[in-house]
Amino acid sequence: MNRKWQEFDNFPVKLYAYANGVPGMTQRNDKTEFRTVLITGGGSGIGLETARMLLEPSLKIRVVLLGRDRNRLEAASEFLLKATGASEHQVAVQVCDLRNADQIAKTLERILSGCKNIYGLVNNAGIYPFGGLSDTTESIWDEAMDVNLKAPFLLIQSVAPCMAKNENGGRIINVSSTAGILPNQSALAYSVSKGAIVHLTKALAKELGKDKITVNCVCPGIVRSPLHETYHASDIELEEFYVKRGAVLPLGRVGESRDVAGAIRYFLSDDASWVTGEIFVVDGGRLVS
Ligand SMILES: NC(=O)c1ccc[n+]([C@@H]2O[C@H](COP(=O)([O-])OP(=O)(O)OC[C@H]3O[C@@H](n4cnc5c(N)ncnc54)[C@H](OP(=O)(O)O)[C@@H]3O)[C@@H](O)[C@H]2O)c1
Repeated sequence: MNRKWQEFDNFPVKLYAYANGVPGMTQRNDKTEFRTVLITGGGSGIGLETARMLLEPSLKIRVVLLGRDRNRLEAASEFLLKATGASEHQVAVQVCDLRNADQIAKTLERILSGCKNIYGLVNNAGIYPFGGLSDTTESIWDEAMDVNLKAPFLLIQSVAPCMAKNENGGRIINVSSTAGILPNQSALAYSVSKGAIVHLTKALAKELGKDKITVNCVCPGIVRSPLHETYHASDIELEEFYVKRGAVLPLGRVGESRDVAGAIRYFLSDDASWVTGEIFVVDGGRLVS
């Protein structure tokens, strides 16, 4: 493709356009290899929906889902193959407990030895421990920091050198929360870990730009997902929670996984190749209300 700028003089304002079409279209109809995207917490909720969207055939993406529970990951893989028509080589699963730095290192060793073309990393896995200052124990604090903050740091540290070898660098998306901007009540460790990942995003966007690696952050508000199921005694109670929390939002409803997955997909797309260090809120208007 000829990427020289071409000037069009006969417009009232000086208009610059690419001489031969628009480079960086999201759809890839060429014969290039599949690009690999690692998704932590890919077996459920936002992570699974992100994988589903990325398996759109024209995007030529292969996903690797990471999680603790092999059965859940295999069920997710089966669902994705059926729902998207992707081929088996496009969906891989890796069991990895993100609380454990050794497991993270071994899992990445396996992934990186079998795959040279790591294009994206979605740090999506997260836990939500309840508790304020008096009832957050040291172990609750440590677990929240390990899963929500340290694991993304370790994963980026291992994956970035690999992305740096790609001609077009790579894409890192960290999933924080509106709690990372405006702390949630009675979720001290969660809010602090999610606030720190906002800063990790900005710091690494600066550091990794030279390698054409973008680092962006998505901050969801309340989204229907398995994250909330454990905290409600019944489906009826859970539904009441969603309706009540949605009713006070400007957009009148809580989010769906696809609302957040769409934002993640944008940051992975070629359309976002000049966007880095962005903290993107997807919350139905919660933070402005
Ligand atoms: N849903 C919301 O309202 C909301 C709002 C703001 C932010 N978020 C953020 O969105 C992200 C995704 O959450 P979700 O809503 O999609 O809920 P979810 O379905 O519960 O997803 C969380 C994922 O994290 C994985 N995970 C948890 N601990 C792990 C560990 N030690 N090792 C490996 N994987 C682990 C879980 O997999 P396994 O249990 O199989 O390991 C699960 O797939 C989280 O970071 C969450 O904080 C969600």
